[in-house]
Amino acid sequence: MDCSHIKFCTDKEKIDLEKLLALYQKNAFWTKNRNLEDLTIAIAHSNPVISVWDHQKLIGSARATSDGIYRATIWDVVIDGEYQGLGLGRKLVETLISHPLLNRVERIYLTTTHQQKFYQRIGFVENETTTMVLYNTYPNPEDLKQNSPNWEEISLNR
Ligand SMILES: CC(C)(COP(=O)(O)OP(=O)(O)OC[C@H]1O[C@@H](n2cnc3c(N)ncnc32)[C@H](O)[C@@H]1OP(=O)(O)O)[C@@H](O)C(=O)NCCC(=O)NCCS
Repeated sequence: MDCSHIKFCTDKEKIDLEKLLALYQKNAFWTKNRNLEDLTIAIAHSNPVISVWDHQKLIGSARATSDGIYRATIWDVVIDGEYQGLGLGRKLVETLISHPLLNRVERIYLTTTHQQKFYQRIGFVENETTTMVLYNTYPNPEDLKQNSPNWEEISLNR
């Protein structure tokens, strides 16, 4: 397939979140149960968010969270199945890590279940020693509203 017309976009405002949800549901096992409301929050708090376009068709996306200098993490790297194996996934990750919010960052993390070899081709190395996770059993949003502290004034004695 000739990919010369494929465009990589760094403006997250241009992303139609329903299209992004459909891309996730079709192509990535860990994103299948996501919904529009939660995805809106995730995208609003991610920067940069890269999208890949074949004319009006959204065919790929990746996003990151970054402090701009010390640490960043890459999330949800996806290329539509019909476009895989063409070098677009590599270009997508390279676009993400060359963005000004990531290109000076000392360590860029990601987690992957099956795609270690793909990331190794781009320069990532396995990192088995430093990773921990909290499976956060967060409360019902209504409880959260009622019990929410004033975050401006919270102290250790609270
Ligand atoms: C992983 C994914 C983003 C790769 O995108 P892609 O466009 O198919 O990858 P590319 O064509 O850019 O491949 C880049 C390089 O990685 C290699 N590669 C890609 N997938 C690979 C795999 N599964 N195993 C080994 N090598 C792989 C390619 O051969 C290529 O090597 P080269 O640069 O030396 O030629 C894509 O397969 C995808 O979206 N999969 C479903 C979602 C997913 O698993 N995302 C990653 C979650 S962490």
